[in-house]
Amino acid sequence: MEKQKIEFPKYTTEMLEILKKGRVLLVGQGKDGKPNPMTIAWGSIMFSWNKPIFVAMVRSSRYTYKLMEECDTFTVNFFDESYSEAMKFCGTKSGRDHDKWKETNLTPVKGKSIDTAAIKEAMINMECKTVYKDEMNLDFLEKAIIDQKYDINVNPENVPHTFYFGEIVDLYGAISEK
Ligand SMILES: Cc1cc2nc3c(=O)[nH]c(=O)nc-3n(C[C@H](O)[C@H](O)[C@H](O)COP(=O)(O)O)c2cc1C
Repeated sequence: MEKQKIEFPKYTTEMLEILKKGRVLLVGQGKDGKPNPMTIAWGSIMFSWNKPIFVAMVRSSRYTYKLMEECDTFTVNFFDESYSEAMKFCGTKSGRDHDKWKETNLTPVKGKSIDTAAIKEAMINMECKTVYKDEMNLDFLEKAIIDQKYDINVNPENVPHTFYFGEIVDLYGAISEK
């Protein structure tokens, strides 16, 4: 099925449901021009500054963080349940040590409106340009969440997230209407 343009905020609920299930790949692409997909399950779709925005949360321990810091664009790619294995792989292995494209058989394709790659097999592709970023300040976070998610004694990877607010500059997908 040919992918069609999606008018924001259509399918926002569906996209958040897919995000909650962890079937979303964030693609960052650094100075070397090589894209890398990382599984995400936390984020937000919002309307702010008169723009549609996707907010991605990336811990500084991720290889993707380096790529997000090197480039001001990223893509967010939503998948159906048949890609669960690829989500698991991209959510447990790092692009520092793996070519995730080769190992998942997913295909990076040139973005329509930005240079960062989107993913061919995704049901919906979102192309974003970072307009604001903010590193979490744990002083302002509820203690129960700190204990659960940000205790570096439990896991050294539990460092704070950086929020990347990306203006959604293109949104398209192949969706069969029920
Ligand atoms: C279901 C799922 C959701 C995840 N969500 C996030 C997220 O929102 N933010 C984040 O920084 N890491 C998240 N992760 C962890 C990264 O995907 C994981 O550490 C990955 O290996 C990092 O890849 P990279 O080093 O190539 O960037 C998630 C992992 C899984 C399995």
